[in-house]
Amino acid sequence: MPIALDINGGTVSVTAAPETPLLWVLRDELLLTGTKYGCGIAQCGACTIHLDGQPARACQTPISSLAGVKVTTIEGLGGSHPLQVAWVSHDVPQCGYCQSGQIMSAAALIAQTAKPTDQDIDAAMSGNICRCGAYQRIRAAIKDAAGVEG
Ligand code: FES
Ligand code: FES
Repeated sequence: MPIALDINGGTVSVTAAPETPLLWVLRDELLLTGTKYGCGIAQCGACTIHLDGQPARACQTPISSLAGVKVTTIEGLGGSHPLQVAWVSHDVPQCGYCQSGQIMSAAALIAQTAKPTDQDIDAAMSGNICRCGAYQRIRAAIKDAAGVEG
């Protein structure tokens, strides 16, 4: 039986089994491939999306748990979110694979804490691994987007 999901402000009907992780439904059924598969076991943060505005791991979220929950993916930020603008101006990505997850964690942070401290950034971003080591540029871009002095 199809399951209705609220994705990026619209309702979609999907046919995947209820226990299917959201990550697979986003990428394979809805073709929203901005959300990345990194580890599949809650260790890397590449699959970070928002559930009702809170960062969450799509690889660990069965679609059966999403009744009445608003899902936002990187596509839902629209491309001109202040973080996306700052990411470009700081030339943050190297390989890019972790970056949508990084931006989604940062977006939840600055939505809740308009002027984050270094400690706030550490706490919010600690679950997002970057194998290319772009951490300094990520931090600088978050501060730029939030209007915080570096
Ligand atoms: S793919 Fe979900 S945390 Fe790594
Ligand atoms: S930019 Fe390559 S993993 Fe982060």
